[in-house]
Amino acid sequence: TERTLSIIKPDATRRNLTGKINAKFEEAGLRIIAQKRIQLTKAQAGEFYAVHKERPFYDELCEFMASAPVVVQVLEGEGAIAKNREVMGATNPADAAPGTIRAEFAESVGENSVHGSDAPETAAEEISFYFSGLEIVG
Ligand code: GTP
Ligand code: MG
Repeated sequence: TERTLSIIKPDATRRNLTGKINAKFEEAGLRIIAQKRIQLTKAQAGEFYAVHKERPFYDELCEFMASAPVVVQVLEGEGAIAKNREVMGATNPADAAPGTIRAEFAESVGENSVHGSDAPETAAEEISFYFSGLEIVG
């Protein structure tokens, strides 16, 4: 089975949506095998999102990710990376399919409630950015 890194973003933790979002993952057959609530600094957010550092929204994205606590989690399941992205919906909530997390909860293209890894290599890197092996219990 596959693993992916998920983040419940500040717009969602602020609105107390952690449980509703986790229910969507579990209904889709994804198991939450590690989870913690943390407060990122802007510098840590910048390191995590370093691939986006040339994008015009990078500074805004880092400010946002450090604006309130996030819940970082490891999701496990058959095809977990693709399944998670399906449950999240399109980056821009205006384009997200009905029933997806972003369609139901996201506020804008930037404040879009969740992050999910996009490939096996990035999933492995992103999981080890936040979790030690001991914290992941599959
Ligand atoms: P992630 O799962 O968060 O990586 O989302 P994604 O893969 O659907 O989107 P992408 O990797 O292209 O962008 C990463 C994140 O940057 C998005 O989830 C948004 O939070 C933010 N972002 C993307 N485009 C914009 C934009 O045009 N404006 C702003 N403010 N933020 C953006
Ligand atoms: Mg992405």
